[in-house]
Amino acid sequence: MFLSHLECTSCGLRHEWSRLQNLCTACHKPLFAIVDLAKAGRALTREVLPTREKSLWRYRELLPLPADAETVSLGEGGTPLLRATRLGGELGLSNLWIKDESQNPTQSFKARGMAVAVSMAKYLGASKLAVPSAGNAGGALAAYAARAGLEAHIFMPRDTPRANIIECRELGAHVALVDGLITDCGAEIARRKTTEGWFDMSTLKEPYRVEGKKTLGYELAEQFDWQLPDVILYPTGGGTGLIGMWKAFDEMEVLGWIGKKRPRMFSVQATGCAPIVRAFENGDSTAAEFPDAHTCASGLRVPRAIGDFLILNILRRSNGGAVAVDDKEMIRITREVGSSEGLFVAPEGAACFAALKSLCRAGKIASSERVVIFNTGSGIKYLDSYEP
Ligand SMILES: Cc1ncc(COP(=O)(O)O)c(C=O)c1O
Ligand SMILES: [Zn+2]
Repeated sequence: MFLSHLECTSCGLRHEWSRLQNLCTACHKPLFAIVDLAKAGRALTREVLPTREKSLWRYRELLPLPADAETVSLGEGGTPLLRATRLGGELGLSNLWIKDESQNPTQSFKARGMAVAVSMAKYLGASKLAVPSAGNAGGALAAYAARAGLEAHIFMPRDTPRANIIECRELGAHVALVDGLITDCGAEIARRKTTEGWFDMSTLKEPYRVEGKKTLGYELAEQFDWQLPDVILYPTGGGTGLIGMWKAFDEMEVLGWIGKKRPRMFSVQATGCAPIVRAFENGDSTAAEFPDAHTCASGLRVPRAIGDFLILNILRRSNGGAVAVDDKEMIRITREVGSSEGLFVAPEGAACFAALKSLCRAGKIASSERVVIFNTGSGIKYLDSYEP
């Protein structure tokens, strides 16, 4: 057992891990799971990893689950890191890579967070899990809750892509469609959770989805033989993956697995919903709610993120930035990526390719730098956005 305690990301207050927790009880900011890295590092060395199963559970000692806890798994993680020679060549980049997260269960990187969070929720006694979802998180919760034998209650905006809604229902979840945005869905859960006995699994409102997402950082380091890339482009809604990766980098440095070097981290958003881009450009430390949020990249339709201060801090500390991309450009570039690399990427992933083009044009990336794009999901779930 290597989990030590939970700690507030803002005020530092300690919380017990051994019962279900949501936000900090003092300041209502997200909690982080603090792993005893000295102890974990004695139990797990880098060298052992290749002998283990190809899933995120190969990092078991660094994950929060107690040794006697059952893992709720569908084979998540261990996704390929693909070299994009043709696309890279067009952009004058000799070292471009795609981390293809569409190959996870339920076809998105949300599987990582939900596998770990559902495992912990079950261990700690929750029986009814609720989540607001712009799309893929709902599908992932529905799948892992079914696998765990728990109830899933999913609140989605009425105009969420049909594939996500159908997927949740067919996975046995209770699905409620809300006239509004993901923030309205979250508010509905907050209003009803006590009377209904739901445990709130919203992004960063419980401490373990980010633990699952941090394995993106561990995998990337391992796949690059413990040298982090120079640049990472990440499609940012709530920012869990970005925050999780940064946590993983810090943990790996303490473990002695990597050095001090960090990638320049770029958040990619849609022009119709770009709270982080706007706050980054304004020099703000938090991001105000983005009005009239709209984009076909449903995972990016997050007008307000509870982890805004963490995301902005990472972008600045890493000397990275934030880029907004037009929906039309995301859809157009999907075919360019598909026809040159063989991946039908989600619009969120496509947005990163468009952002990369504009960063290259602006001279912000040198031709020999190692660049990683996160394709966080599959285009298959967004068929309504394409011409039949
Ligand atoms: C495909 C896809 N990419 C990116 C995101 C944004 O993820 P995060 O909330 O970790 O920023 C989502 C969230 O729903 C998503 O479904
Ligand atoms: Zn606090």
